[in-house]
Amino acid sequence: GTRLFNLDDRNAISECSSILTDGGLVAFPTETVYGLGANALDAEAVNKIFTAKGRPADNPLIVHIASLSQLDKLVLKVPNQVKLLSDRFWPGPLTLVLKKKEIVPDITTGGLDTIAVRLPDHKVALDLLNRCQLPVAAPSANLSGRPSPTLAQHVVTDLGGRIEAIIDGGQTGVGVESTVISLVEDRPTLLRPGGITYQELTEVLGEVDIDSAVKAELESENKSALAPGMKYKHYSPEADVILVEGEAERIAHKITKLADEYLAEGYQVGIMATEENSNFYTAGQVQVMGSRDKLSVISANLFRLLRSFDDSGVDIILIEGVSNQGLGLAIMNRLRKAAGYQVIRV
Ligand code: TXA
Ligand code: MG
Repeated sequence: GTRLFNLDDRNAISECSSILTDGGLVAFPTETVYGLGANALDAEAVNKIFTAKGRPADNPLIVHIASLSQLDKLVLKVPNQVKLLSDRFWPGPLTLVLKKKEIVPDITTGGLDTIAVRLPDHKVALDLLNRCQLPVAAPSANLSGRPSPTLAQHVVTDLGGRIEAIIDGGQTGVGVESTVISLVEDRPTLLRPGGITYQELTEVLGEVDIDSAVKAELESENKSALAPGMKYKHYSPEADVILVEGEAERIAHKITKLADEYLAEGYQVGIMATEENSNFYTAGQVQVMGSRDKLSVISANLFRLLRSFDDSGVDIILIEGVSNQGLGLAIMNRLRKAAGYQVIRV
């Protein structure tokens, strides 16, 4: 069975550190989402991550470190941008992709010659990393394809019985995963929007390219445009998701209309609403994400609310889109994936 530790357990860190040293799996909180950790340099241990999550073997993992000094062991060369970025954003929700050293097993990096590294900003994560003195590979601690876990209970639901231990550190703060940026080419490239915004990156680096897949996602109108090229199902609750984007008031009207139609057909309907529009809806099960003016609250609530509908028997979740600016870029990226690119623009 899976051992569940909480922060009152004095031995949590030392016991979980031993599990990692012995090649086992430990789920732990970070400031973004819960991670599922294994010794990044132990191919057999890392293989267990892929098995537990049902993760495709070519999807590379993020390696977590407790201090900048651990980087040299993992990467061939440390470009100048690393100092600029780590000074400003580490510890924090930023992941850097760099050329890897031989010592890092292929399985950790999905067969790539690059490695993704981050230094997380969470006491439990840092205590664990410091204690075991290992680089720890940790994807989000969900079953592949499900919303990332922001509560220990989400990890129990997805991975209970499949991993050695879970440390319960309460709800994670940021709620969406780290920003992933590649420093392998001449120009830095944003590979995944996340907790550090694109604007923040450009303040430090100047120009930053946006990966073509991330861009295509922003511009796609509906799922037929993208589905064939998209490799993995992602962030999906049990119900179908439809994302409605546009001006706030028009969104409210469209979702009301859709909800009425689906209800008339006998479906159970959930709505993920912004605070501004929430009183507008009189039918369906409404969950409030937060205010349009406070995207950090919406990102903190996002995955928990997506999962909350699993227990309420809804068939369809209608979600209000928000701005693409700031944290909105990461929020909209996750919501578009959760919707399988079923996006309606109004
Ligand atoms: O906030 C986070 O990043 C969380 C916490 C646990 O740290 N972790 C996380 O891991 O979100 P995961 O596995 O769910 O997402 C890792 C992302 C994937 O999009 C993967 O493709 C990308 O990082 N990635 C990892 N290594 C890479 C590499 N060498 N080159 C390009 N992308 C890479
Ligand atoms: Mg993930």
